[in-house]
Amino acid sequence: MIAIACDHAGIDLKPSVIAVLDELGITYKDFGTNSHESVDYPVYGAKAAQAVADGVCERGIVLCGTGVGIGMAAGKVHGIRCVTCSDTYSAKMSRLHNDANMLALGSRVLGTELAKDIVRVWLMTAFEGERHARRVGMINKLDRGETL
Ligand code: RB5
Repeated sequence: MIAIACDHAGIDLKPSVIAVLDELGITYKDFGTNSHESVDYPVYGAKAAQAVADGVCERGIVLCGTGVGIGMAAGKVHGIRCVTCSDTYSAKMSRLHNDANMLALGSRVLGTELAKDIVRVWLMTAFEGERHARRVGMINKLDRGETL
């Protein structure tokens, strides 16, 4: 199950993300927003991130105008490693090396077909583990407020 959320600026890209999830047969939970009425992106980033952090959803995809603000907000939730991504290579590497558990996209940055390719590759790529697990462990240590 994938958590999805967006603000009013990200909403136009949401159907493209859902189309990829449907195409891949992946279930999702939509945490809103569901209109163009102006809302605060941290609220929606936090909703999806909390669902991932709580284990209700395995991973999450969030959208705002740039992908930057909602990605920053999601990444502040304990246990979240969120990548804001505008290319497929970074999307792939964020899974292989960084075990990113959330993806943030900008609807004012990306065309729909590129966004769909990014979502596809991000969903289909597994974490490589091994030496990267030690480094992700260090990120998680920082997330817990510990020093390296
Ligand atoms: C909303 O206008 C816009 O600031 C928001 O969607 C996002 O791009 C922030 O990072």
